[in-house]
Amino acid sequence: MLATRLSRTLSQLPGKTLSVYDGEHGTRSTLLFCSTSFTSIRRRTYASKVDPVDSKAVLITGCDSGFGFSLAKHLHSKGFLVFAGCLLKDKGDAGVKELDSLNSDRLRTIQLNVCNNEEVERAVETVHSSLKDPEKGMWGLVNNAGISTFGEVEFTSMETYKEVAEVNLWGTVRTTKSFLPLLRRAKGRVVNISSMLGRMANPARSPYCITKFGVEAFSDCLRYEMYPLGVKVSVVEPGNFIAATSLYSPERIQAIAKKMWDELPEVVRKDYGRKYFDEQIAKMETYCNSGSTDTSSVIDAVTHALTATSPYTRYHPMDYYWWLRMQIMTHLPGAVSDKIYIH
Ligand SMILES: NC(=O)c1ccc[n+]([C@@H]2O[C@H](COP(=O)([O-])OP(=O)(O)OC[C@H]3O[C@@H](n4cnc5c(N)ncnc54)[C@H](OP(=O)(O)O)[C@@H]3O)[C@@H](O)[C@H]2O)c1
Repeated sequence: MLATRLSRTLSQLPGKTLSVYDGEHGTRSTLLFCSTSFTSIRRRTYASKVDPVDSKAVLITGCDSGFGFSLAKHLHSKGFLVFAGCLLKDKGDAGVKELDSLNSDRLRTIQLNVCNNEEVERAVETVHSSLKDPEKGMWGLVNNAGISTFGEVEFTSMETYKEVAEVNLWGTVRTTKSFLPLLRRAKGRVVNISSMLGRMANPARSPYCITKFGVEAFSDCLRYEMYPLGVKVSVVEPGNFIAATSLYSPERIQAIAKKMWDELPEVVRKDYGRKYFDEQIAKMETYCNSGSTDTSSVIDAVTHALTATSPYTRYHPMDYYWWLRMQIMTHLPGAVSDKIYIH
């Protein structure tokens, strides 16, 4: 029965198959697992009690582009007082200009590099001084800022590992710690944008995966600690939306690949060879072209986490293929999931 239901949603996907015996009906069903094409992402409707927005203050990091940019506009349209942290506000980035052009008292862009202590502290002061009653605190923090890269362990320099962690993990920790006093006063919300790659690892993605696994662990610890204090912590784990955001572009992939090859230790370059390296880059390019271009499921998830009386611990805006893969990789023994997806 279960096999029939799972395979129905995936029936149009080409790829690896696995037969599952249905004891109830004595039949064997085929599940499909591996695909480079995608079913459309079902936009989930979250039915639950919602608190009034009432110009509550929310700060979002990484609003120059992608999810952060769309979220800033969406939460503003919902009536929030939005502080849109932008990495390149000082440089007059196009995203910042567009947000500023809304000319609204309830949407304020602020210069915010989450790796920079002073900028984070200045952001806290800006929010604090803008609140009608700072003693009542601020409602929400969305840790969205992030960068990504790829490359097998032997292809990735220590510098790259540290660079990605500095933004995705330490940036999230730093910003959260700085805003917690205000969030605690409001018994507000923390929403961390992790990734499906914060739940299941993938070959050639270790510099990104380890930071998102870290965000997941940090979020869980924070959720346990904040529960008695009334602050609710949620994690949003988007699937592949690369085609819709600025996380990767073909130029960026090529630039990363060139730098990586140029900096590879001679022994690694020789042992793996150029052909293998180029094949891995081509796979990454295919992955980046295959994502969804509609980010509304991510925006809905964050909105629910900020507005529902009882927000979820984890949100999974992703298509069926990645959702099923994540369930299998997180619930079945490694020997089984490795066989299906990796080997
Ligand atoms: N797109 C996906 O498929 C996907 C899937 C799962 C999870 N995510 C996560 O979603 C989040 C948003 O990414 P996105 O896909 O919307 O990509 P994006 O368009 O590149 O957005 C990321 C934003 O973070 C900003 N940023 C980078 N370094 C920063 C720093 N040190 N301080 C503050 N802001 C910084 C970027 O600024 P610049 O544009 O100026 O560099 C950009 O505005 C990330 O955490 C990412 O890991 C994305």
